[in-house]
Amino acid sequence: MESQTISIVGLGYVGLCTGVGFASKGFSVIMVDNDPKKVTAVTKGIPPFHEPDLEKLLQEGIKSGLLKATLDIEQAIKNTDVTFITVGTPSNPDGSIDLKQIKSCATEISKALAKKDKYHLIIVKSTVVPGTTENIVKPLLEKYSNKKAGSGFGLCMNPEFLREGSAIFDTLHPDRIVIGENDKESGNLLHAMYQELYGKTTPFVRTNLPTAELIKYANNAFLATKISYINTIANICEKIPSTDITVVSQGLGFDQRINPQFLRAGIGYGGSCFPKDVNALIAMADQVGYSAILLKDVQEVNENQAKHTVEIVQKILGELVGKRIAILGLAFKPDTDDMREARSIPIINELLNKGATITAYDPIAHSSAFSVFGNKINYVNSAISCLKDADCCILVTEWNEFKHLKPDDFKKHMKQPILIDGRRIYNPTEYRKKIQFEAIGLGPIP
Ligand code: UGA
Repeated sequence: MESQTISIVGLGYVGLCTGVGFASKGFSVIMVDNDPKKVTAVTKGIPPFHEPDLEKLLQEGIKSGLLKATLDIEQAIKNTDVTFITVGTPSNPDGSIDLKQIKSCATEISKALAKKDKYHLIIVKSTVVPGTTENIVKPLLEKYSNKKAGSGFGLCMNPEFLREGSAIFDTLHPDRIVIGENDKESGNLLHAMYQELYGKTTPFVRTNLPTAELIKYANNAFLATKISYINTIANICEKIPSTDITVVSQGLGFDQRINPQFLRAGIGYGGSCFPKDVNALIAMADQVGYSAILLKDVQEVNENQAKHTVEIVQKILGELVGKRIAILGLAFKPDTDDMREARSIPIINELLNKGATITAYDPIAHSSAFSVFGNKINYVNSAISCLKDADCCILVTEWNEFKHLKPDDFKKHMKQPILIDGRRIYNPTEYRKKIQFEAIGLGPIP
């Protein structure tokens, strides 16, 4: 069977990485976005955001002719067999998801389908609350195309589980593929495409549309819960002399029922997904008559971690007016310049409110951080210059280069060598010997 040709609507993380991933395995892909700047940049092989290996694969795809980008959705549908919808689903002010982009994209696809005779498969990959594909996308696709889902065209929901910072790796090595299908033929076609991409060893879960949609939320909410859980235990550790959450996590992680991942305690989770998806799941549960109290607490624990970090600083320094705080790392996690819901934001804002001055360094996130903080903070070009004359340093993002800093670096450059490890990357025994060292989840010295 000849490979399906693919179009992808929406050039965010999921869309671009999916496109680049398919093209790297020989599929022909047309990527569509309504932002001319994005389309021009992608056509030139310039990714609109930083992601390891993305630029290389994008340029290879463009050069080989397998990857193209366009503003013209109609042509993209006409010239391909399968379309992934990967547009954004941001939050409304009440926490529910905003489906504007999904609706307009489904409408445009529907109009394009009206002009096409050949069978076409549509796949919703954006994160959408259960019921969206069935009750919103499907009727819109049917409305203008005058075709029926299941006969005139195929329809699937296929959630994405890639992480920023390792998006290309995750795209090429998924743990599993979840396919929600409107009908067997649609599911079979997508299943076959993915088997061509990944081979036969990757597990598949095939189900209906709303279950696939719920799996995505359940997955992110579970991971967020794991983080808030370990942060809860971390906060208990801080009250018990000689305990250390990193060792507690190790002890838990060897239990195969728990596993070691997402047990890193710290200043909390950020990013474009966990906060938004936990919110959306809570809002959706409320709407259908269930108060998801566990998830509300997960959120509260997360918000408190940022406040708690500032409290640690205050406990040591007292009054913060005029104190100079060094912030190592601004992005929500390493290997990305994404500042969305980064924990640096509530921490820095709280410190500024209390009158501190902030000097910050992030290896790549300065320009995205500038759009958040503007000139309210000082940006410097190295970790060492960030430490210069500081009264206290907070490690906010665990970039690899920060792992190489030694206690002497803090001692030599800071006004007073006080370090708060918000991501648990330093060895407390080594650091406590030489500087004042505090960390999330580190019990007091007895
Ligand atoms: C997350 C999920 O991990 C992906 O599976 C999912 O596809 C994605 O959301 C999405 O829905 O698009 P991402 O937000 O890119 O991916 O990053 P994560 O690696 O999950 O980290 C999220 C936040 O949790 C970061 O702020 C990170 O610092 C924090 N975290 C993570 C912890 O505080 N502790 C941990 O043990 C792990």
